[in-house]
Amino acid sequence: MKITGRLALAASAGVLALAGAPHLFAHGDVTPQAVDTSALPDIQPNNDTWIEHNPYRGNAEAIKIGEHAYAQNCARCHGIEAISGGIAPDLRYLELGDSGDEWFVQRYHHGSVRDGKVYMPPMGEVLGQKAGWAIRAWLETVHQE
Ligand code: HEC
Repeated sequence: MKITGRLALAASAGVLALAGAPHLFAHGDVTPQAVDTSALPDIQPNNDTWIEHNPYRGNAEAIKIGEHAYAQNCARCHGIEAISGGIAPDLRYLELGDSGDEWFVQRYHHGSVRDGKVYMPPMGEVLGQKAGWAIRAWLETVHQE
């Protein structure tokens, strides 16, 4: 029992040490939160080959998953419900359709670095392509002109 207790303590200390690691990015805690996309169809030819247009546009399940994924991973910079408080662009104004998709996935996949400063961390490699297109599907439902 005692040994188990010590091990458990050591394990939780390890977790704390990790959580306290210095943050890489400018806007506070941006540790990506995993998104469960298992309910969504896989992307063709495969989930790791980045495509330019949203295969989930109008997909109700994707929209639901995307809304949650956005709240967990993007809202801290882009604003709750995509209404920007000014830190980062207001994503409701992203163009609808294919050309908006291309710009969206470019930023989602690679983030934005200017003059050596990280404006937006690359989210795509961590969260995966399926989560990105789910977020984009939701964003199109809150679009503003
Ligand atoms: C750490 C803050 C931060 C987080 C977290 C973040 N972004 Fe960004 N994002 C930015 C900033 C800042 C810009 C503007 C970059 C620039 O001007 O070069 C941006 C730009 C964008 C753009 C381009 C918008 C435009 O109008 O040009 C898209 C699309 C985007 N982000 C999507 C996302 C998505 C989706 C997520 C969540 C998965 C996310 N971002 C998470 C800070 C963030």
